[in-house]
Amino acid sequence: MDTRNNDEAYVNFNWDKLGFGLTPTDYIYIMKISGKDNFSEGSLSRYGNIEISPSAAIFNYGQGLFEGMKAYRRPDGGIQLFRPELNALRMKNGADRLCMPSPPVDVFVDAVKKIVLANQRWVPPPGKGSLYIRPLLMGSGAVLGIGPAPECTFLIFTSPIGNWYKCGPSMNLYVENEVPRATPGGTGAIKSITNYSPVFEAVNKAKAKGFTDVLFLDAATGKNVEEVSSCNVFIVKDNVILTPPTNGTILPGVTRKSIIEIALHLKYKVEERDVPLMDVLTADEVFCTGTAVGVTAVASVTLHDKRTVIMVSEPRVSIFGAPSAVIVEGFFLIRWGFLVAGDLL
Ligand code: COI
Repeated sequence: MDTRNNDEAYVNFNWDKLGFGLTPTDYIYIMKISGKDNFSEGSLSRYGNIEISPSAAIFNYGQGLFEGMKAYRRPDGGIQLFRPELNALRMKNGADRLCMPSPPVDVFVDAVKKIVLANQRWVPPPGKGSLYIRPLLMGSGAVLGIGPAPECTFLIFTSPIGNWYKCGPSMNLYVENEVPRATPGGTGAIKSITNYSPVFEAVNKAKAKGFTDVLFLDAATGKNVEEVSSCNVFIVKDNVILTPPTNGTILPGVTRKSIIEIALHLKYKVEERDVPLMDVLTADEVFCTGTAVGVTAVASVTLHDKRTVIMVSEPRVSIFGAPSAVIVEGFFLIRWGFLVAGDLL
């Protein structure tokens, strides 16, 4: 497939102005799955709208999952993925919960490699950003009564991205103590599409007040911190790294897992346990992790009208001895290369 045709959008593209907006790239990947495990041959087609029944289960009953991952341009021009098999496994867990068949790990990773290679001209130059990869698994077959769709679609699209937050290198969080992100027994631990829009209102309200994002508390007690709308949270107190446990309401983030592995490797004490909001308000350092946010320091946390400043100096996630952006773009990829999937190119 010829991906070398220069179009106007590509030629005029400004790599220095990348945010987290959608820039359509050249190709999407689509695979249909009928029944439990009848996988079609996945294929690439030009980026564009897809046809789907109005009674598809994803529209009517929210039978859908997404993943988020990135491909990076290395300084030598090659392209590298970050632990794509972990996204495949997480999609499989979610698919089991939502009664969907999901692509086996090797098929998932192969599809990711194919779509990245097809869109490779959109992988930003080193230091300018990355190619965000968005795999979707959805109940695309028509249903009326409640039940799993007879056919699912595994689709991947990509977009070059820069920073997730427009605010700069650190976050000012607003504590939401009325609306939880996830509830015990719910879908907080899987990347269900239905986990995201219910927090739009709380996040919009916080943004209108000038905050970067919302820090949600647990639904059961309202005392412990859980997650920010799109990322996991870490607290550093007395040189111990704390983060809420993945007990059903926390998304098991790939960056979260990687940070824990790196911290343990560096001989830090890491505790996955309930973290009372009070510990956050008295923390030495707070940071968030996620594919989109990378590792971003938290500058302040505000509960009602009381603002607690966590970080007064330059944004650093100092336990790793490097500014946060450097950690994701360089530290993982170079010093921690053992964690990274094989080169694509
Ligand atoms: C990601 O980090 O990939 C996420 O899932 C966040 C998303 C809501 C953009």
